[in-house]
Amino acid sequence: MVDRAEYVRSAPRPAVQADAIRLPFRADCFAAVAALWMLYYLDRPAVALMESARVLRQRGTFVACTSSRYNDPEFASVLPQWGEPLSFDAETAPEIISDHFTITKVVTWDAPAVRLPDGAAVALFLRGRGLSADEASLQAGQWKVPLTVTKRGGLIWARRG
Ligand SMILES: C[S@@+](CC[C@H](N)C(=O)[O-])C[C@H]1O[C@@H](n2cnc3c(N)ncnc32)[C@H](O)[C@@H]1O
Repeated sequence: MVDRAEYVRSAPRPAVQADAIRLPFRADCFAAVAALWMLYYLDRPAVALMESARVLRQRGTFVACTSSRYNDPEFASVLPQWGEPLSFDAETAPEIISDHFTITKVVTWDAPAVRLPDGAAVALFLRGRGLSADEASLQAGQWKVPLTVTKRGGLIWARRG
């Protein structure tokens, strides 16, 4: 696995601390590359896709997953960026990937998937979605619990060449 975060130094091997836009691997050396829940952090995901294509063998598998911009609709009113495009979201991912790979399958989901049993779980969830600790704990008391959150996203399978 590759991640640019510090924790990689103590992660189980094989693990490499590196940036997805400059992979420390030679060309054509992997049979598969998976970019899971991370391309939306990049302003220009296309650069990481080019790097992925470079290290992938001809006919190798590429797979990426990402959230929908309409993920977690129950919290649409409190998530400031809700509904706005991400640099790589389920709505645009197939088109972005198709500039670099041949898409073989797209799987999307839109289903009640996460149950938040109490206010503490709501607060933790909202922290994970970018609210400050104060905002999250303020919000936590406003929701009727248990609350089920709808997850929306997509998994895109592709191959090089
Ligand atoms: C939501 S986590 C997903 C982690 C893992 N892929 C998984 O599915 O469990 C996003 C990860 O992307 C990493 N990340 C963000 N931008 C990156 C980049 N340019 N290169 C490498 N890793 C990056 C972050 O450090 C973070 O660990």
